[in-house]
Amino acid sequence: MKLNIAVLPGDGIGPEIVEQGMKAVKAVCEKYGHELSYKHALVGAVAIDETGNPYPDETHELCMQSDAVYFGAIGSPKYDNNPSAKVRPEQGLLGMRKKLGLFANIRPVTTFPSLLHKSPLRAELIEGADFMCIRELTGGMYFGRPQGRSEDGNTAYDTCVYTREEIERIVRLAYQYAQKRRKKVTVVDKANVLATSRLWRQVAQEIEKEYPDVETEYMFVDNAAMRLVQWPKSFDVMVTENMFGDILTDEASVITGSLGMLPSASIGVHTSVFEPIHGSYPQAAGKNIANPLATILSAALMFEYAFNGMEEGALIREAVAASMDANVVTEDIAENGKAYKTSEVGDWIAEYIAKK
Ligand code: IPM
Ligand code: MN
Repeated sequence: MKLNIAVLPGDGIGPEIVEQGMKAVKAVCEKYGHELSYKHALVGAVAIDETGNPYPDETHELCMQSDAVYFGAIGSPKYDNNPSAKVRPEQGLLGMRKKLGLFANIRPVTTFPSLLHKSPLRAELIEGADFMCIRELTGGMYFGRPQGRSEDGNTAYDTCVYTREEIERIVRLAYQYAQKRRKKVTVVDKANVLATSRLWRQVAQEIEKEYPDVETEYMFVDNAAMRLVQWPKSFDVMVTENMFGDILTDEASVITGSLGMLPSASIGVHTSVFEPIHGSYPQAAGKNIANPLATILSAALMFEYAFNGMEEGALIREAVAASMDANVVTEDIAENGKAYKTSEVGDWIAEYIAKK
């Protein structure tokens, strides 16, 4: 097959981790005889610095013309510490999600046997945990308007908006995934307080009837936050709105032992985007110490979701698991002080794939 990929490394550790992921992608393409063509483009703070726009039109054009977008991370302390900045790197990511119509962000959470003892949670609680969080990605408070400040600057407001259509399409997707898994959907909301959540629950209750083979559970987000660390194995497919999904998946990443482990796929109307769930980790930028595994695992999702390359995805996952078994890992998950560099982990995984 022919792969046509837009590569958007972004800020901070983005370029280093994406480079490792591309090593794996190239190794897989060579092995399977796939033709690979890819182009880099700017997004985030680096794009602001060069063009003034965090998601330049050129980048959008490239994404639209590609079969998949492979994304690193965005964000820079330069903007985080400047609340009055008019243009922010995050607008690049949000603009891309909106313009590509990426309404569903799929975040699979699984534990890795060799990492069980790295989790702050007891091994018996997390062993075998395997669920998928489906986060709505183009609605809610992230995009609701009005958003802003009063004239005197002393009052600020965000607006949470959801339409029936937005809820229907994401909830249906959750049921479709659940049918292929353990047939359980947990709808997470705050229906005891929020009007948008009450609409979510109403719509979900209607859609639930279309999938009688799937068990449905409704849960308030505060309770879900607790249950994630108390009994993560009780989840199969969790579906929730944008902000709740953002928060719950960072929480979920501690189950695996490191924020550097969780990949994601964002799908919707136009080209799908594959990116780690973690941020740009500016403190580590350029130091060759960041964990590239979430990004490499995002490449596995890219093969599976964008190219229907199930074997290719499985091979990348196998290589990642093998690197952990061999302790060829970065400092966040290393044992006995023996940490490998970001690039060494990337090389090891590419070589594993090539030799396989
Ligand atoms: C994520 C990130 C983004 C989000 C930020 C960088 C805007 O935290 O992808 O989870 O909040 O969606
Ligand atoms: Mn987040």
